[in-house]
Amino acid sequence: MKVVVLTGAGISAESGLSTFRDNDGLWENHRVEEVATPEAFDRNPELVQRFYNMRRANLKSVEPNAAHVALAQAEQQFESFLLVTQNVDDLHERAGSKNLLHMHGELLKQRCVQCHDVSEIIGELSVNAICPNCDGVGSLRPDIVWFGEMPYFMDDIMAALMDCDLFVSIGTSGSVYPAAGFVQIANQSGARTVELNLEPGDLQSEFQQAQYGKATAVVGEFFGNL
Ligand code: APR
Repeated sequence: MKVVVLTGAGISAESGLSTFRDNDGLWENHRVEEVATPEAFDRNPELVQRFYNMRRANLKSVEPNAAHVALAQAEQQFESFLLVTQNVDDLHERAGSKNLLHMHGELLKQRCVQCHDVSEIIGELSVNAICPNCDGVGSLRPDIVWFGEMPYFMDDIMAALMDCDLFVSIGTSGSVYPAAGFVQIANQSGARTVELNLEPGDLQSEFQQAQYGKATAVVGEFFGNL
């Protein structure tokens, strides 16, 4: 069986990381437009860098939970298993997932806007940081896909969706495209489509099957019973 899994902020909630839409539209006390758009970065790079430096530092105080671990174990179970995450944390890889695509980028990486080199962030990222590849000063930004930017790996993800037998969406509200469109593509490809979430998401009616509850309970149970 060929499996594609999509995860969102809900899978990391029980590890202690905030989701985006469960707090009156505020995200760590900021409106999304203040910190997660290219315009915000142009307007106030210090604020945006500080915001992501804090989120990155916060990763040190959290651990993968049972849902991340269940997905790493499930990867061993199937002929083909692709994990696509909208999350920028590193909890899937720390749990042991290998075939993993971060479609919205990664908190632990930086990208040079001049030479496009992507590298690991050592310590904090500052507005005057020097690119390790081209030595450009002040050209590094968090390697995060902001609103209005094109998510990564779309060709690979589309190919996997069109070829999968099972699509499982976990801990995502289904309100941000293109990820929100994945269930439709999987349905059209003839795959079985399943939503695992705390509560019905925006795309509830698109899924053929659903199981509602906390990710640490429902993810292991679902894959354990396959
Ligand atoms: N277990 C399972 N699901 C949970 C849990 C939990 N413990 N806690 C919350 N959820 C669910 C919520 O009910 C909600 O439907 O997780 C979902 C989180 O939704 P969002 O906060 O909208 O996060 P997400 O879908 O990942 O957001 C998508 O939006 O802001 C952008 O780029 C950002 O990647 C992000 C994208």
